[in-house]
Amino acid sequence: MGKKVTVVGAGFYGSTTAQRLAEYDIFDTVVLTDIVDGKPEGLALDMNQSRPIEGFETKVVGQTTGPNGEGYEAIEGSDIVVITAGLPRKPGMSRMDLLGVNAKIVRQVAENVAKYAPNAVVIVVSNPLDEMTALAQIATQFPKQRVLGQAGMLDTARFSHFVAETLAVPVASVRTLTLGSHGDTMVPVPSQCTVNGKPLSELLPAEKIEELVVRTRNGGAEVVGLLKTGSAYYAPSAAAARMARAVAEDSGAVLPVCAWVDGEYGISGVYLGVEAAIGADGVNRVVETDLTESELAALKEAAEAVRSKQADVANL
Ligand SMILES: NC(=O)c1ccc[n+]([C@@H]2O[C@H](COP(=O)([O-])OP(=O)(O)OC[C@H]3O[C@@H](n4cnc5c(N)ncnc54)[C@H](O)[C@@H]3O)[C@@H](O)[C@H]2O)c1
Repeated sequence: MGKKVTVVGAGFYGSTTAQRLAEYDIFDTVVLTDIVDGKPEGLALDMNQSRPIEGFETKVVGQTTGPNGEGYEAIEGSDIVVITAGLPRKPGMSRMDLLGVNAKIVRQVAENVAKYAPNAVVIVVSNPLDEMTALAQIATQFPKQRVLGQAGMLDTARFSHFVAETLAVPVASVRTLTLGSHGDTMVPVPSQCTVNGKPLSELLPAEKIEELVVRTRNGGAEVVGLLKTGSAYYAPSAAAARMARAVAEDSGAVLPVCAWVDGEYGISGVYLGVEAAIGADGVNRVVETDLTESELAALKEAAEAVRSKQADVANL
C-alpha cells in the first residue's frame, strides 16, 4: 500500500508543505488538518484541482478537527505526521514568546496523533522548535528517534543561499552546516563549509563569514520584519517536506535536524540540532561530524541552553 502523510495545521507553513508533498507524487494520500472550519477542506480541494496541471496522482484530503479530537480519524494509519499547528512570530517577538500558547496546541495535537497514528514518524515544526519537539515526544510517548524537529535544514539552506549570493556561485556548489538550537544558540560550523570543495575560509574573510552567520541566525526575523504579519514558509516547508520524503523513501539521507542526542559529541539526553541519517523509523542514527574545539564547545553550550528549557516543557 502507498504511503500516507498528514500535515497538522493548514496555515502558510502547513499548506505549502502539503502542496510540496503532493507534488512529489510519492504518497497515496496527503491529509491536511486545521481547527478553522472548512479551511483544510478548501485548500485540499484547490490543491487537488492542480493535479491535472502539475501531473500528480496523490490525493489531498482536508479535515477540520475539533477541540475534543473530532475529525482525527482522518489521520488514521499515517506513516508520517508533520506538526505545523501554532502561532507564528510577529515583528519583535522571539520564538520563545510563543512557548505557552504553542505548548497547549502541540500537546493537544500530539495526544491525538498518538491515539490515531500510533506508528507515525512525527516531524515537528511549531516554534519554539527545540522545546516543541521535546514536548511532542513527551505527549506521544513515542520512541525518541521517531520524533524529530525541523530547523537545521532551514538554517543551513539560509546560510548556503547567503554564501552563494555573496560569491555569485551556484547554490549547488555550496555546502554549509549549522548545528545547535533553532535560535540564539545556533552553532555555525565554518570548518565544514565549502564552495566546490574549497574551504569557505579561503574564499571569504572571517568578518564577512561572521556577517553571513549573523544574518543566518536572524534569517527568520528578517523575513518576519518584511512580512509584518506571519513568518517564513517557502524555505521552511521545503525543509520539512524533504525530511518527510527521506522518511517515506527510507533513504538514509544525512540531514541536519533536531534529534534526540544520547552520547554523541559527549552530549546526552537532549533534543538538539545535529546531522542524522533519516529513514522509515525516523532517526536511524546521529552522525557525528569533525568539529574544531571551539565549534564543539559552542555545541555543548547550546545543548545546555536548550536542556534547561526542555526540562520545563513537561509541565506545559
Ligand atoms: N521550525 C521552523 O524552522 C519554522 C519556520 C517557520 C515557522 N515555524 C513555525 O511554524 C508554525 C506555523 O507557522 P505558519 O506560518 O503556518 O502559521 P499560520 O498562522 O499561518 O498557521 C498556523 C495554523 O495552525 C492552526 N492551528 C492552531 N491550533 C491548532 C490545533 N490545535 N490543531 C490544528 N491546527 C491548529 C491555525 O488555525 C493556523 O491555520 C509557527 O509556530 C511558526 O513559528 C517554524
